[in-house]
Amino acid sequence: MTQFDTVVRGGNVVTPSGSYVGDIGIKGERIAALGDNLDTAGAKVIDASGHHVIPGVLDVHVHLELPFCGTVSADDYISGTRAAARGGVTTVIDFAIPSADGTLAEAADTWMRKAEGKSLIDYTFHICITRYNEHKDQIAGMVERGFTTFKEFMIYESEGWQSDDRAMFGTLERMKEHGAMLLVHAESSRVLDELIARNHTPELMKQHGAVLHAITRPNFIEAEAIQRAVQWSEATGGQLYIVHMSTAEGSEIIKSAQSRGVPVLAETCVQYLVLDDSVFASEDGHLYACCPQLKKPADSARLWKGLKSGEVSVISTDTCTFTREQKAMWEGDWTKIPMGMPGLETLMPLTYTKGVLEGKLTLEEMCMKLSTNPARIMGLEHRKGAIRVGGDADLAIIHPTRTHTIDPKELETNADWSPYNGWELAGFARTTLSRGEVIVDDYRVTGKAGRGQWLKRTRAGA
Ligand code: URP
Ligand code: ZN
Ligand code: ZN
Repeated sequence: MTQFDTVVRGGNVVTPSGSYVGDIGIKGERIAALGDNLDTAGAKVIDASGHHVIPGVLDVHVHLELPFCGTVSADDYISGTRAAARGGVTTVIDFAIPSADGTLAEAADTWMRKAEGKSLIDYTFHICITRYNEHKDQIAGMVERGFTTFKEFMIYESEGWQSDDRAMFGTLERMKEHGAMLLVHAESSRVLDELIARNHTPELMKQHGAVLHAITRPNFIEAEAIQRAVQWSEATGGQLYIVHMSTAEGSEIIKSAQSRGVPVLAETCVQYLVLDDSVFASEDGHLYACCPQLKKPADSARLWKGLKSGEVSVISTDTCTFTREQKAMWEGDWTKIPMGMPGLETLMPLTYTKGVLEGKLTLEEMCMKLSTNPARIMGLEHRKGAIRVGGDADLAIIHPTRTHTIDPKELETNADWSPYNGWELAGFARTTLSRGEVIVDDYRVTGKAGRGQWLKRTRAGA
């Protein structure tokens, strides 16, 4: 009998207790041994010499095939998870959003159907609470079913998704009761409505175009909303997680709340680290519109600092892909732009190139923010997020310096444009393994759609 099915040999292996040059032995779907000169008799050997071997990335904020802004986002579970795998992502968490009169369970069933038979990698969902009064008594049942993270949006009234303070307060109380966690999209809707109304004139739209997206969302729109959500977390003791935080002010609020023991965590997205709102002035500025919108270089610098010092725990993407044709629906009115950008394929390459290679994060810190923290916070650490014996053999093997030039035609995403067009990025996965199976080989996707599995969870939070 062979000791291992696969041995990943001679790479720089990043583990929670430090990095070493050596081997990883895989038996079935799990990591069976970490060491040096492991027995390769009868095993498939993957040469990782001269490469980093890092834990598979968890992108815990994606929207695949999302009906939104009058259209449906262009990456589904086939293209989206192929893109993910190429970037070393081995787990995604999407958001199941109830229909106009739907229950939480129906939302979960709908999203399960989107993923089943299509997903190349493992997945689960945050469950969105859009009508608190109806949904509040369904929370316990969803936790029992293995969904331990919930989400409320402080904006998107026109989509029928918006939650108020009463909903956040009551949901956070229930999160405490169930050992679950509430994710919040924090933007201050009423003041935002007012700023949009003031600027929504033919003259101003002609004058500013997509720049109005930035003009109508000053930093206080996010800061006030984060402050309010933090207040409800502090009052209830319910675990809160701020999604896609984009401002320096937000980072300060989180840091201060954490220092007084409020159970709040924060995520940023890689686009807030590497892009800024100057893009809106370009001819294609509308393509970059997402909520919250891109901010200033000083915000990016503060978010990098927050990653280093700890108040920002996770980097995700908020992938919500729209093609050029879909984005053209705006016809000069920024309020009609389908909001969101592609991201899964470039999450790790961007973080590696702009973070690790430019000295803002160590390789180990990158793995913490892309894999270990998201797995722990989302209740998946028993299987995902770290290279350790007993864990799922989800691995990405990356060359330390070899770059690829971003060209939308070469990418797996269904987007026909990229915010990073022409950028030279290192960190694409030469090889990706998901539960011991090679799904990306020599930078090309080789795994089959539908092999990904739903991940059951029993808890969430810090
Ligand atoms: O622009 C974005 N972020 N689109 C997806 C929906 C959301 O707010 O996360
Ligand atoms: Zn959001
Ligand atoms: Zn989102």
